[in-house]
Amino acid sequence: MKNTNVENNLKIWDNVDTWINDGEEWSEHFGDTDTLWKDHIEPRIGINLCCGKNTLEIACGRGRMTRKLLENKIKLNILDVSPTCIDRCKERFGDKIENYYVGNGTDLSAIENNSMEFIFSFDSFVHMHKDVINGYLGEIERVLTLNGEAWIHHSILSGGNENNFQNIAGRSNMSLIEFAHLAKNHGLKVVEQDKIRWNAPGNPEWLHDGMTKVKKTIMKL
Ligand SMILES: C[S@@+](CC[C@H](N)C(=O)[O-])C[C@H]1O[C@@H](n2cnc3c(N)ncnc32)[C@H](O)[C@@H]1O
Repeated sequence: MKNTNVENNLKIWDNVDTWINDGEEWSEHFGDTDTLWKDHIEPRIGINLCCGKNTLEIACGRGRMTRKLLENKIKLNILDVSPTCIDRCKERFGDKIENYYVGNGTDLSAIENNSMEFIFSFDSFVHMHKDVINGYLGEIERVLTLNGEAWIHHSILSGGNENNFQNIAGRSNMSLIEFAHLAKNHGLKVVEQDKIRWNAPGNPEWLHDGMTKVKKTIMKL
């Protein structure tokens, strides 16, 4: 399922016709991306975005949140499995980004151990299979600096189809408890967990997602 999930994601998101306005269209329920950021994201991660911190955005897409991250004093690196998304980000952000990475969808192999002080991902782990998420959590533990943190927005759908794209809003099966369990198995400390409510047109009232912040508190030998 891991490979199928990566292939399905690549097929959808690498297709430029999937995108209407670089992902801004998915912020409409909140008003716009600036409001979504100000009301829901910045209060949770603002403290991490300072001091020239080496930061990694996993699954940046066409840069909806990259634009907001760049408003802060950080050194930003971005990664996505989709080459067309990375090309679009290069077009938009040029040398404001430290490094652009087209990943293989399963690991962060281009990134050094203990090199990132903060890792961010929004609206992307929601579409990843548990096995893909588990692999990334191991990689997040590897590339974070000691005391570095990662903030991940993920699904909390239960009982859905194994093929997430058959589920409402493409959500994969996951829960706050399971995400925390996977993170702890990789030696990460769960700092906080929270939910965000989505009520976008066409989506039912029950669509909620999770947000988990983890911290690397132990340096593995
Ligand atoms: C819904 S888009 C969100 C993009 C962006 N974060 C935003 O908020 O607009 C999902 C993104 O996740 C990326 N993605 C999906 N699975 C991935 C994987 N296994 N590894 C890296 N990127 C992945 C896709 O290529 C796509 O760019």
